[in-house]
Parts: sequence; structure tokens; C-alpha cells
Amino acid sequence: AEMNRELRERLVQLKKERNAIILAHYYQRDEIQEVADFRGDSFLLAQKAASTDADTIVFCGVHFMGESAKILAPNKTVLIPDERAGCPMADMVNVDGLRKLKAEHPNAKVVTYINSSAEIKAETDICCTSSNAVKVINSVDADEIIWVPDKNLGHYVQQHTDKKLIIWEGYCNTHDMLTVKDVVEMKAKYPNAEFVVHPECRPEVVAMGDFVGSTTAIIDYCKNSSAKEFIVGTEDGTGYQLRKDSPDKTFHFATKYLVCPNMKVNNLKKLVKCLETMQPQIYVPPVVADKARLSLERMLQVK
Ligand code: 13P
Ligand code: SF4
Repeated sequence: AEMNRELRERLVQLKKERNAIILAHYYQRDEIQEVADFRGDSFLLAQKAASTDADTIVFCGVHFMGESAKILAPNKTVLIPDERAGCPMADMVNVDGLRKLKAEHPNAKVVTYINSSAEIKAETDICCTSSNAVKVINSVDADEIIWVPDKNLGHYVQQHTDKKLIIWEGYCNTHDMLTVKDVVEMKAKYPNAEFVVHPECRPEVVAMGDFVGSTTAIIDYCKNSSAKEFIVGTEDGTGYQLRKDSPDKTFHFATKYLVCPNMKVNNLKKLVKCLETMQPQIYVPPVVADKARLSLERMLQVK
């Protein structure tokens, strides 16, 4: 606790020196969320990165999030506490595979989940996140959509659009692990609880949800619901904001395995160190960034 206090004091000082803003995803460790200037889901964090006037953005999340921030704010320094924090789902799609699919479906437009590399975004018509996926799909001027890389979110979106999705077979290891059996057991144990679930979970699990949405949407729903008890089907870091917003409510995570090990690679010590050394910085080659930026900016414009 003493060490964390010293780290937090050092952080306040460094933030001023570097004119830095600290952005944290809801899946980050509590010790990071506590000191963040702004917490959010993937969409709100991308929006914040695009609009901040700080010189330095410290992105506490996984690598693709830092990359998206750098693409949207190319003149700013974007730091990430540990560049080894990756997203296995983002790595499940490669440029060659996507180009092949585009060649097979020349009339289709490509909608890419923000959980993807800059190279994939550069091959994309428009990006989306879990909070705006349906809106984005319905805004696209094409009947056929190539959807990468999350098959579970793709299945969910397909149920809310008349367009035909050609779905890539990627998935989030963390959310995909949650099973119907897990949820059935939790519902038996907590019969009065509402089940809130992220659309990165399997379709049959999502179908059991009393509410389906992005991290921010889940947090807002729980805050406003009249229910007092929830079974949560998303990553455990979300508990920080859920409990902060609704101290009188009870949150049971659906299993103890709803932990993204990549998100937890970052910690307070590494956060302070990256602002001290101004390393590691996110770099995206300008030719890639310029193309990828279009797909992200189109997403930010969807109303
Ligand atoms: P959201 O931030 O859109 O809820 O997505 C969750 C996620 O898995 C981020 O990696
Ligand atoms: Fe990737 Fe899933 Fe972790 Fe999000 S929770 S960073 S989608 S592995």
C-alpha cells in the first residue's frame, strides 16, 4: 500500500510534466482504473483519444487499442505500459486471408471489429465496436458484409440486420469460455439476479441474457435497472466500475475464469515507468495509418 501511494504521487507529477492523459479500459486492474483520468469501453476510449488535447496519451489496455489511439491522434505520443499486452482475437485474422475473402466477394463491404491490427483496419471500409456494431452495419451501403474477426459478435449482429454477413471464425478466448452450463448453475444459485452478457460470448450464452451489450452498456444498464443482483458475463475488471456506480447492488461474475490475461499484463508500476521513460511508444507506419484512419473516422461519424 505504501509503495502504491508513492507510485501514485510520482504519477501525478509525471502527468503534469508530460501533459499526459491516462485512458483505461474497464478490464484493467483496479490499481490502474483508480488512477485513470478516463475509463471506458473500446468506443468511448477511441473517441476520447481522438478528441483530447493532451500531448501524451497513456493507453492502459491492449495493443490494438493503443494503435487505434495513435492512428486517430498521429501527432501525439501514445504510450502503453507493456507492449506485450496483445489481443489473441485480433491475431486470428491476417491480411492475406482477408484479401482472399474480398476477392471472392467483390460487392461486399468490410466491417471490422476494432479488436484488430492496423494492417487489417487499412483493408477495411468501416470499423465498429461492440457498442455500435448494429448501427455501423446498418449504415453501410451494401447488402453483403465481410465481418472480421469475431464470430460471436458477428452472430449477434446478424440477428439484428437484414444484410448478409460473411463471418470470420475468430473469437475472444476469455468470453468464449463461458458456457450455458455455467450460466444455468449461476441462475439456480441466484434466482433473483439478472444475467447481463457481452456479445463476445457464444450465441447460446448471449441468448440467455436479460441484457446484452458492450462493457459501458452493461455498466449503464446495471446502474439503471431496478434489479439488486446481477450475474455478469464479461471480464472481471468491469467489477470496479459496477461496484463504484452501484454500491448497493451485488455482482456475481458468471465464472472465476472471466479474466483476460492480456489486459492484466499492465500494472501501476509499469504505468508509472512508461511515463518516466516515455517508452514503449506505439508506432504505426504512416502508409498503414493513413488508410486505417479512414475506417476509424467513418465509425466515429456514425450517429
Ligand atoms: P468493449 O470495450 O466494446 O466492451 O469490448 C470488450 C473487449 O473485449 C475489449 O477487448
Ligand atoms: Fe481480446 Fe478478449 Fe482480452 Fe478483449 S477480453 S482484449 S477481446 S482477449
